Amino acid sequence: MKGVILAGGLGTRLSPLTKITNKHLLPIYDEPMIYYPIRTLVEGGISDILIVTGGNSAGDFLRLLGNGKDFGLKHVNYTYQEGEGGIAEALGLAEHFVDRDKMVVVLGDNIIEGSIKQAVEDFEKQPKGAKIFLKEVSDPERFGVPIIDGNRITAIEEKPKKPKSPYAVIGIYMYDAYVFDIIKTLRPSDRGELEITDVNNAYIKNNMMTFEIIDGWWTDAGTFDSLHKAACLVEKKKKSAQQ
Ligand code: DAU
Repeated sequence: MKGVILAGGLGTRLSPLTKITNKHLLPIYDEPMIYYPIRTLVEGGISDILIVTGGNSAGDFLRLLGNGKDFGLKHVNYTYQEGEGGIAEALGLAEHFVDRDKMVVVLGDNIIEGSIKQAVEDFEKQPKGAKIFLKEVSDPERFGVPIIDGNRITAIEEKPKKPKSPYAVIGIYMYDAYVFDIIKTLRPSDRGELEITDVNNAYIKNNMMTFEIIDGWWTDAGTFDSLHKAACLVEKKKKSAQQ
């Protein structure tokens, strides 16, 4: 299983913090943001990792992470996304690296309290398709929101004005290599991006999607409020682990 961290985009919602540096190099409490998705993958048992970066200070990822020694890795792969064509466009750049394998994709600004280890093992056994993760939130309109019918997701709406469930689709996705065929069929959305929600809807349409509701907290860190919230949650977790 391969791991792909998407750390492209311009982070304009965090300007002026992102005017000079890359969003994923900003601090979350005592470590740079990018450390958290790397640790999510490594603790989940995944050591073959590609970081897709973009925007400002891309070279600083290499200076910061090198070959990933701080995470017990021997090697880290890097690639560069020009512009801000969307999450699905950034994932498309991983096709050569993934090489028909299965993959776990983590958005570079997503942080979880728990572990994905069990979910990775479950997905290893899933013969094909995709797996997504949900978390109940107070502001679903900021995220991809699933429409749930019984124990099935029938569709996902991206940032709906009137969310049809209280859940967010979090930024950790498991895919088979069919994802690259789907990406090639996508058209840009109204915000000019290739949307990961369109990828997920294609899997749902083909009955190839499983999902889980995650335990523990989850947050993104792409707005001033969520960046601050992420730092507070991480601080609390780290301090309670020291006691
Ligand atoms: O955080 C989870 C949410 O992430 C999902 O619920 C949404 O369905 C999904 O669309 C996404 O929403 P955002 O609009 O908040 O994503 P954002 O544009 O903030 O991008 C999140 C990360 O994805 C970002 O930290 C880096 C990566 N990314 C994003 C873009 C637009 C790229 O690598 N390249 C890109 O072009």
